[in-house]
Formats: sequence, structure tokens, C-alpha cells
Amino acid sequence: MSTALFPQHVIARKRDGATLSTEEIQSFVRGATDGSWADYQLSALLMAIFLRGMSAVETAALTAAMMNSGGVVADLSNLKLPKADKHSTGGVGDKISLHLAPMVAACGVAVPMISGRGLGHTGGTLDKLESIPGFNVNLSLGEYRAQLGKLGLALIGQTAELAPADKKLYSLRDVTATVESIPLICASILSKKLAEGIDVLVLDVKFGRGAFMADKAKARELAEALVAVATAMGKPTRAILTAMEQPLGRGVGNALEVLESIECLKGRGPADTMEVTYALGEQMLVLAGVVQSTEAARAKLEATISQGSALEKFREMIRAQGGDARVVDDPARLPQAKWKVPLAARHRGYVQSVDAMGVALAALRLGAGRAKAADPVDHAVGFSELAKVGERVEVGGRLAVVHANDEVALVEATRMLDNAIVVGEARGETPRLVDEVIG
Ligand code: URA
Repeated sequence: MSTALFPQHVIARKRDGATLSTEEIQSFVRGATDGSWADYQLSALLMAIFLRGMSAVETAALTAAMMNSGGVVADLSNLKLPKADKHSTGGVGDKISLHLAPMVAACGVAVPMISGRGLGHTGGTLDKLESIPGFNVNLSLGEYRAQLGKLGLALIGQTAELAPADKKLYSLRDVTATVESIPLICASILSKKLAEGIDVLVLDVKFGRGAFMADKAKARELAEALVAVATAMGKPTRAILTAMEQPLGRGVGNALEVLESIECLKGRGPADTMEVTYALGEQMLVLAGVVQSTEAARAKLEATISQGSALEKFREMIRAQGGDARVVDDPARLPQAKWKVPLAARHRGYVQSVDAMGVALAALRLGAGRAKAADPVDHAVGFSELAKVGERVEVGGRLAVVHANDEVALVEATRMLDNAIVVGEARGETPRLVDEVIG
């Protein structure tokens, strides 16, 4: 190795505000993947990047190096269909991938989706899918390719060979206060998404109390950076800024969110969830080139619900991945909690706010999510029938149903949920959900 690529030289250059070369960035990513950089050196450079930032060219070089860190990128060139994916920066009650992916696949656009698990207050698509008995998210790259060829749809977990550098770097960022850096977030998200073999990408970047980036200006900055880097890497990309002040839909918790997604596929989805679903799906179909306008995309997506083709795609995917597709018609086959206890309103009036973060922390107390990556999750617990902002309630009326498997957690989570829902005299504003399209 040339001395210019010694970790301490690269760290010192970024510490002093220099722009790193592609070679230096590749050396860092190689060091994270093969262990040739020590954790303290990786962490020091992460902090220097956090403090000094990165140019667009550096961010693209970091993304490309991380995307190629496993030596392979999924090759889906055998697939004749256009390939589109969607990624959300994470929210509360955000189950959209579960029903959006089959809707888009039913429109003739393949959806190769590699998702993550929940961590902290946000849920993860893989945990939700695993609440379907038997559902296997651990397909090999070969199985993933084969299923996409047959169904045009696969929802799986990260494989060991795709973008492995992110796993190492994310785990260090998590414990060194370097998560909230736009270039590092961009490279982390895009390295994984672009390794999937997609043609186009649509991002749901959330802002508000339950979002990873609570501040809207910061969320917009992240969305613009994600779109710029992905587009520069040859993948047409758009981002939608959406509000995450109150949870999406009325269900929060793994099996409860699967149930709500099935309702969406049956044409009975909550209005807010469907609004974001259509906004994302429209962009996916337009970018994939199967329609010319968002209006035409909307009509096509609506037809997948009214004709049942999206529900059938969802069934086929569950079967292909070893799951019990009977959950679609018989939700009692999903994991059920021991206690299902309604939370009653103590005041009459209007629901003025439902704090998404408060709801998420209450769900975490029930065991629906994990505080550390190795923690198990309880698929059955969470909340259903959550009240929405602007709804009228009477004293004793239902604000939610708490699903719990532990009596102490039931009491504590119910108190936390009660604190998260404010009922008052004035009607209150329903926040605008789909705020802006970027790209
Ligand atoms: N999600 C990711 O995958 N990576 C980040 O850095 C942040 C959110």
C-alpha cells in the first residue's frame, strides 16, 4: 500500500477539510470490508466525514465503493421487465412496502426489494413479513433472481455478499454518534439499493416527530442528496417528502401491520396509507416507463386493487417464500396477542395530535421492536384501531386497542399511548401528508 493510503493519512486529510480521492475512499471501504483498517481508524474517519462533510463526487465514490464491497452486484439483466424499487427512511406504522410491491409488480414492473429490520423506534419490513408463519426472507442471490424471473417480485433480507461494508460501517456509526450525516446516510442507503439490480428508485423521505430526520429542511436536504447521487450513478431516482407526525394508518406492530396491508390490497386501506402508497407507486410506474403520466399510473394501480391482481401477487409471493398464504383470507392465522384491551378516551372532543414517536416507544415497550440489533421481536403485539387526528371522540370512546403478551408491559404501554394521544375542544389540523416531489 502506498503510504498515501495509510489510514492515518486519509483520516488526517479529511480532518483538515481536504477532498478525498476515489482511491482513498476505496481504501477506507476495503479496510471496513477486509478488516485491514482497525475499528478505531474507521470510526475516526467516520467522525471526520461527519464533521467536515463530503462533496457530491466524494459521496458518489463512497456509494460506489460500498455498493461493490462484496465484489458482486445482483445481475438482473435476464429479466425483461423494467425493475423499480422504493425505499423509506423509516416511520411508525409504515407498512407500505408490503402492499405497494405487489401492486407495482401486478402492473408489469419487477420489484426486487431488499429490506432491513426494525431498529430503535422504526419498524422493519423483514420483521413484518416474518410474522407470516413460514415466510423466509433469507433467499440466496440465485433464489432471489429465480423468483423475480417467475413472479416479478421478491422481498428479502440483506445477503452477505451484497454491500457488506455497510453492515460494518453502520454498526460503528451507531455507537460513535455518526449516524446523522447526509453523505454517510446517502452512501449507506444507496449502496444497498443500487446493489439490488434495479433500473429506477423512488424514495420516501419522512420528516416530523416519528421520522429519522424530524426537521423538514434537513429531510429535504437528504432527499436532494439521495436523488443527486443516485441519478449521477445512472439510476433515475425521485424522492417524495412525506409527513410522519402521526403513525401511518391505524395499525402499529408487525402482524397488525401485515393485516392492515392485506386490507389495503382488498380496497379497505386507511386513507392516509393509500395516499402515500399511490404517490410512491405513481412515481415508480412513471420512472419505469410503463406509463406517461401520474394519472395513468394511478388508474393502473387502482385496477390492481379492484381486480384483485395485487392481492393475488401477494399470495403468490408468500407461497414462493414458504409462507402460509391462508393468512390473506384468515387473519387469525397471524400471531395473536394474549390480551387485546381497548384504550378509552377520558375527554370528549377531537383528536388533536397522535405523537408518532410516543406511539413507537409504547410499541417498543410491548416488544414490537428492538433496542439493539440482536434483540428478538414479538410479532403479535402493538396497537390497532388507532384514532386519527381530526376524529371526534366521546368519553369512553375507543382511541386504540392495545395488543400485549405481558401484563406489566400492557399497563405501561397503555399509559404511554394515552400520553401520546391528545384530545381537545378544537378540531386541530390534519397535517399535509405528501409534501413535495424531488427529482
Ligand atoms: N438507513 C440506512 O440504511 N442507513 C442509514 O445510514 C440511515 C438509515
